Amino acid sequence: MSVSQFQVDTHGHRTHTCGELRTEHIGQTAVLKGWVDTRRDLGGLIFVDLRDRYGITQIVFNPQDNPETAKLAESLRFEFVISVKGKVVGREVEAKNTELATASIELEAQDMLILNTSEPLPFMVSTHEGKQSNASDDLRLKYRYLDLRRTELKENVMLRHRVYQSVRRFYDGEQFVEVETPVLMKSTPEGARDYLVPSRVHAGKFFALPQSPQTYKQILMVAGFDRYFQIVKCFRDEDLRADRQPEFTQIDVEMTFATEDLIYKTAEGMISAIWKDVKGVDLELPFPRMSYDSAIRKYGSDKPDLRFEMELHDVTSVFAGSGFKVFDSIADDGGAVVAMVVPGWGDTGRGKLDKLDKDIVRHKLKGGGLFHFRLPSDGTGIQSSVKEEALPLSFVQKAIDQTGASTGDLVLVIAGPSPKVFEQMGSLRLHVATEMGLISDNANGPWKFLWVTDFPLLEYDEEAGRFHAMHHPFTSPAAADMAKLGTDPGAVRAQAYDIVLNGSEIGGGSIRIHRADVQQMMFDALGIGKEEAQTRFGFLLDAFKYGAPPHGGIAFGLDRIVMLLTGASSLRDVIVFPKTQSAQEPMVQSPDVVDDHQLADLHIQLIKKDKPSA
Ligand code: AMO
Repeated sequence: MSVSQFQVDTHGHRTHTCGELRTEHIGQTAVLKGWVDTRRDLGGLIFVDLRDRYGITQIVFNPQDNPETAKLAESLRFEFVISVKGKVVGREVEAKNTELATASIELEAQDMLILNTSEPLPFMVSTHEGKQSNASDDLRLKYRYLDLRRTELKENVMLRHRVYQSVRRFYDGEQFVEVETPVLMKSTPEGARDYLVPSRVHAGKFFALPQSPQTYKQILMVAGFDRYFQIVKCFRDEDLRADRQPEFTQIDVEMTFATEDLIYKTAEGMISAIWKDVKGVDLELPFPRMSYDSAIRKYGSDKPDLRFEMELHDVTSVFAGSGFKVFDSIADDGGAVVAMVVPGWGDTGRGKLDKLDKDIVRHKLKGGGLFHFRLPSDGTGIQSSVKEEALPLSFVQKAIDQTGASTGDLVLVIAGPSPKVFEQMGSLRLHVATEMGLISDNANGPWKFLWVTDFPLLEYDEEAGRFHAMHHPFTSPAAADMAKLGTDPGAVRAQAYDIVLNGSEIGGGSIRIHRADVQQMMFDALGIGKEEAQTRFGFLLDAFKYGAPPHGGIAFGLDRIVMLLTGASSLRDVIVFPKTQSAQEPMVQSPDVVDDHQLADLHIQLIKKDKPSA
């Protein structure tokens, strides 16, 4: 079709969307507008599936009734934009079409206008009739607007929209005030690198994009707003994974006079409102709680996936006196021997277990090695990977008893320094569960929520030779541990918590320090000197001098919540214009170079490097 043939839209507004017409409309004249999803020529008739955000309606062009319109329909290609005026008629529903809401009607075209054409597509957009796109991720991201026309991505965007509405309704109903905090701010440490924005007016100075609005929301509590929330973009220049994007969205919350219990209750209210609104599911409240210590010891992770059992067992003491050198020396060094039962794996072949040892435990998890005790299903008794002379079966039996394993099961054992060995077994637990098909991206649950509580306040960074805040430096120590902050900082627990869903951390927060003197003690423990504290956080320390109320809060990863709700396997499928693994956006091709004069305005001179620094 040549440009001169483009048609002016003389049909007026559409009367219905492509997802709207039903049998009660039969006999009416309707105008639909949308994209050509598919075109089929059958027995002299032309069938077009017309698509918009709302759905798909079948249009029939009959050359006998309207020869000119039918002739024009022959020129239709994928993704042409058309307007069709016609009569709604009933239709025999083909079994395969019953899930289409508009399947019981079709529109008999009387007139059609081509509002725009489309070039041949780089990949198939239509998901109708099994035409799945198998385009590469890069191609799909380059033509994101086409990818977003596909039902799956479109549905994710729509679900995300419903989550926003649900969150706003919930917090509004609970007296929370939605406040926007600055995007051009000063760096607050959340553990990642900042994205920086150079200042034109102040040569050599930089804004930082917020890793989170942490300090602002605390200051809003000092300002007396009592309850704050914000759906807010956060920016972190960190290594990307399926559940991490450099630019992501938080549901950020802060409450004055908050206790941990109050924060849990309010958060559970928001989560259950989302699940009710979006999934129609009534979640069981309250969510279970588990201390950080128990999570590590029982599941080898601070974000345990509770969709399946397979708890870890500390069997160190069981092997005391066994004479088995490997376990003995690890126990003597303060390490642990950790066991896990794999139900139904008692007949697993030696080859598979050796591979698990080599590829996963030694190579991937950097563990010392995997031991196993098999309990074959024919009841022939224990088969230990360690010769009986080295490790008597009586000790193996005791370990099996402690784990509760029975005939047909397999017991896996790793020994090593604690708590690392628990984390290694935790990773093995996930690996094995994946092999067993226990971990799925099921958008229909089960939904296993968990509060992980009592995190350590600080963690020691061997490389830097100093402590880091495990959550952030504004987190309050547990009242009972306050005195240890100056003497034994590593042993101090924090009033910090995470909320975990099916093994994903979907949120985290803490009760904050609200006194300038305690905040100063915290900075001291972190090795942040008085002067540095004043330069970086003087504004917060100052604010604490003027009647700062006790307060606390939480932030949820909105993208992660939507990812779990949709069953998507990557955040990329729930963010409209996401970044790639290498932190680029292929459609607009950002980041990009800028003109020399822009750099000059910003007082920036580029240093040529062969490779970007890591
Ligand atoms: P935290 O750093 O734990 O806490 O972040 C809160 C939640 O945000 C999500 N999240 C991410 N999602 C996608 N991509 C990322 N790169 C990413 N990083 C974090 C996670 C996480 O649980 N200021 C504190 C909150 C507080 O103390 O109130 C904070 O930002 O789901």
